[in-house]
Amino acid sequence: MLAKYRFFNPALCALGSLRISPGLEDPASSACHKVLLLHTAPSELYPSPLEGKHAQPFNELPGKWKNRWTNLYHFWKEGGFHNVHKMMIQNFQTFGPIYRSGEAWRQDRLILNKEALSLNVLDNFVPLLNEVGEDFLKRVEMQIGRSPQRKWTADFANELFRFALESICNILYGTRLGLLQDFVDPENQRFIDAVSLMFHTTSPMLYIPPKFLRWINSKIWLDHVKAWDVIFTHADRCIQNIYRDLSLNRKSAKEYRGILSSLLMQDKLHVEDIKASITEMMAGGVDTTSMTLQWAMYELAKAPAIQERLRTEILAAKAASQGDILKVLKAVPLTKATIKEVLRLHPVAVTIQRYTTQELILQNYFIPAKTLVQVGIYAMGQDPRFFTKPEQFNPERWLSPGSKHFRLLGFGFGPRQCLGRRIAELEMQLFLIHMLEKFKIEAKRGVEVGTTFDLILLPDKPIYLTLRPVDSQL
Ligand code: HEM
Repeated sequence: MLAKYRFFNPALCALGSLRISPGLEDPASSACHKVLLLHTAPSELYPSPLEGKHAQPFNELPGKWKNRWTNLYHFWKEGGFHNVHKMMIQNFQTFGPIYRSGEAWRQDRLILNKEALSLNVLDNFVPLLNEVGEDFLKRVEMQIGRSPQRKWTADFANELFRFALESICNILYGTRLGLLQDFVDPENQRFIDAVSLMFHTTSPMLYIPPKFLRWINSKIWLDHVKAWDVIFTHADRCIQNIYRDLSLNRKSAKEYRGILSSLLMQDKLHVEDIKASITEMMAGGVDTTSMTLQWAMYELAKAPAIQERLRTEILAAKAASQGDILKVLKAVPLTKATIKEVLRLHPVAVTIQRYTTQELILQNYFIPAKTLVQVGIYAMGQDPRFFTKPEQFNPERWLSPGSKHFRLLGFGFGPRQCLGRRIAELEMQLFLIHMLEKFKIEAKRGVEVGTTFDLILLPDKPIYLTLRPVDSQL
C-alpha cells in the first residue's frame, strides 16, 4: 500500500552541509530574507539568469559549511549526531509522513485547497470542531468533579493529543472515535494505537533509510507497515460507510460529513489519492495542534492578566452572539492574536524550506538553483528587529497598527503552506473559547519550561498545569 508514495527523507538534507545564517546584521533586510542554506548542487550545471549582476559568490557565504570535514567535525563537537534526529524530524512533522511533490502534488493540492482552506468550507468545520471542544469541556468538568479541591492538575500533553486526534478525525471522516470518554470502542482503540505506532516508527526512518529497514525485515519496518495498513483499512471502512449511507438514503448528499465524504462525492481525485491525502492530513494534524495548545495553556497560565483579558473578550462575544458560535468566532480578535503569538514563540516547525528553482541573489550573495533554502522562523520570532521585546508573550502586538508582512509564518507560506491551517486555527480558537469561559489555567510559580527538538519543538520537561472553575475562590 505504501509503495505508491515516496518517503521524504530529511536526513539527506540535514547531512548535506550544515549551517549558514547570513545577513542577520543587515537591518534593512526584510523578515523573509533570513535564511539558512543547507544543501547545494554545483552551480555550473545551471544557466544563470543573473549573468552580469553584482553580488558576492555563493562560496563566500560566511560560515564553517564549506569544508565538509570541518563541518562534520563541528557538527559532531556540537552534539549534532546526538541531535541529528532533531534536525531531520521537524520535516516529518511539518510535512507528514508521505511527501509528494511535482505536478501530481500540485494537481491534488488545488483540489484539496478547496476542501480544506477555502473560506466557503470553513463554516462546515465549525459544528464538527465545536462538538469536540464541548466534549473536552465535559471531560474537564468531570475530572474536576472527581476532585475534592475542585481542580485538575496534570500534564495535559496526552489529553490534548486525544483532543486533536478526535477533532481531525471528525473533520476528515465525519465520525467520532470517542477518545474523550473513559471507555473507547476496541475497534477505534486499534486505529488510535496504529496512529501512535505510525508516529513512533517514523522517527527512526528519518535517519535509517526505509529501504534498508525493509530489506533487513526490521521490526520497525514491519510495525510501520502494519500501522499504515490499519490506518488505510480504517479509511476504507469510512469510505464504505459513506457509500452505504448514501445508497440507503440514510444521509442526504447535501449534509456535510467531512472532507473524505466531500472528496468522494466530487469524484475529482482517484480513490487511492483521496485515501493518501486524508491520511496525510490526519498525520499532519495531531501533534501540531496539540503541542501549540499546550504552549498556549502554558503561556496563558504564566500571564493571568492576559488570560483575564481573553476571558472578558470571550464572555462579551458569547453574550452578544446569543449562542451562535459563528458570531462568537468573529468577535474574538485577541483570542486569534494569542494563537499567532504562541506560534511566534513556539513554532511547530522551526524553519520553512524550499529549493530555489533558479539562481537568485539573497542579501547580496548569489544562491545557485536547486539550493535548499530555509527561512528560520523560530529565530525570526525572537528577533527584536521584527518584534519589540520578543521575549515577552504579548498577543496584543498582533492587533497594533503597523506592517505584519511576512511576520506570521508558523503555517508556512505560498502554494505549499499548511493545508490544515484553517482547520487548526478554528480548532484552537474554539478550544480556547470553551476553556477560558469556564476555567482558569494556572501554573506553578517559578517553573520555567524551555524548548527542545524531538520531531517538533517540544517542552524540555512535562508542563504541569491546574484547571479550576472560573468561580473558584482560590
Ligand atoms: C498548529 C497547527 C499547525 C501548524 C503550526 C502547522 C504547520 C505547518 C507548516 C509550517 C507546514 C509547511 C508549510 C510550508 O512549507 O510553507 C505544514 C504543512 C502541512 N500541514 Fe500543517 N500545521 C498545523 C496543523 C495542521 C493540520 C490540523 C493539518 C491537517 C488537516 C495539517 C496538514 C498539513 C499538510 C498536509 C501539510 C503539507 C502540505 C503540502 O505539502 O501540500 N497541518 N504545516
